Amino acid sequence: MVGLPARGKSFIVKKIQRYLTWLQYDTRVFNVGNLRRIASKGDNNNGTTHSHAFFDSTNTTAKSIRDQLALESLEELIAWLKQGGRVGIHDATNSSRERRKMLLDRLKSEPNCRVLFIESICTDPVVLAHNITMKLMSPDYKGVDETQAREDFRKRLENYERAYQTLGEEDEDEGIQYCKLINVGKKVIAYNTQGYLAGQCIFYLMNFNLSPRCIWLTRHGESLDNKLGKIGGDAPLSARGKKYGACLARFIKQQRIEQDEIRRRAAEQREAGSSSSQQCERTVAVWTSMLRRTKETVEEFDPIEYDIKEMRLLNEIYAGICEELTYAQIRERYPEEFQERKINKLFYRYPGMGGESYLDVIQRLNPLIIELERMSSDMVIVTHRVVMRILLGYMLDIDRAKMPEMEVPLHTLYCVEPKPHGTVVKRYRWVEEQDWFVEDQQQP
Ligand code: F6P
Repeated sequence: MVGLPARGKSFIVKKIQRYLTWLQYDTRVFNVGNLRRIASKGDNNNGTTHSHAFFDSTNTTAKSIRDQLALESLEELIAWLKQGGRVGIHDATNSSRERRKMLLDRLKSEPNCRVLFIESICTDPVVLAHNITMKLMSPDYKGVDETQAREDFRKRLENYERAYQTLGEEDEDEGIQYCKLINVGKKVIAYNTQGYLAGQCIFYLMNFNLSPRCIWLTRHGESLDNKLGKIGGDAPLSARGKKYGACLARFIKQQRIEQDEIRRRAAEQREAGSSSSQQCERTVAVWTSMLRRTKETVEEFDPIEYDIKEMRLLNEIYAGICEELTYAQIRERYPEEFQERKINKLFYRYPGMGGESYLDVIQRLNPLIIELERMSSDMVIVTHRVVMRILLGYMLDIDRAKMPEMEVPLHTLYCVEPKPHGTVVKRYRWVEEQDWFVEDQQQP
């Protein structure tokens, strides 16, 4: 990473780590700030260790300690890659050419490592002010009075700004790949992108946004095959499944009204009402798979109020020769297959034409994740069990081993809100007798 402090580097880092891990590339972050705090044994700001003076590039002793820590962190990263890790993220400011050259020099003796520098630049004063306020809560300022902390951080920033050299033509001599991300992907400059992963990362970074929004996710209503315990197929909904769909449309409508009101008030408070009309009453996208059971679930959504789209990407895992069988029938007819899937559900691919594994479905959903990140409006996704597990796995950063076993019952609705500092999720259960949704305290 490259960039001045408080430019959202750690936010970007977390997002890339989550995305690449979801794509099944083991990814780990090596944060130099944390190493510095460990090295200084918690001496916070009462001496020179973390105060602004420590970040002055003319302070030669401090500079050499900082360079040393950056190298140490890189050594840890390299060692981890050698143990089988795929992507190591060096999370530091690396904001001078000299520092970047030092890291590249070390990497020259590692022929299997490829480098992509990602620089985050933020010129939006509102985002910057917010980031600075967040920085005051960092462990560096634990127990430090807010005014004093703000003043120290302001001076620390000045020190960094004096030594800052943005990525540019001078860095291009080194034959590296880089990407400059200006204002959370509003403007992106990419240089010399060669590798598949570098390309994926840059494409991903180009597409995300910070708009507050809700992503509603649910499986379809109960189908006739669900009643029989059969997997796959293209059965219609049962009467109960239709009732669920109708309630879903009413509930989402009510939630939208409430959400719009909350956002309108928040926008009024923030900007004395100036941008409130942009914030509310936005078109809500509704995405279903191409299968009958999801399409029938959204039949009561008004197509004038909602932008309804059917997508093959959202179809359920295709079970090949096991389609439309019950689990008991699979165990009886194909005992070896049944056993194999039990042992490694993530990798197991159903035999027969078009049969898929969880990994295949992850690959199929990759473009959808990019689209999800790009969208700034609220949305409703009506899909199937495996797709739900994989999408929730991404949004909630669920461990890959746990993801195929996640409990995602029918008639349960998830509301996921991406926030700059993590994702907030609520789960609602449809209570049939009340024909309404009740918030479930149990976290997925
Ligand atoms: O039973 C419903 C269903 O969506 C099937 O169509 C699908 O094969 C199955 O769930 C996936 O769940 P698991 O991966 O646990 O078998």
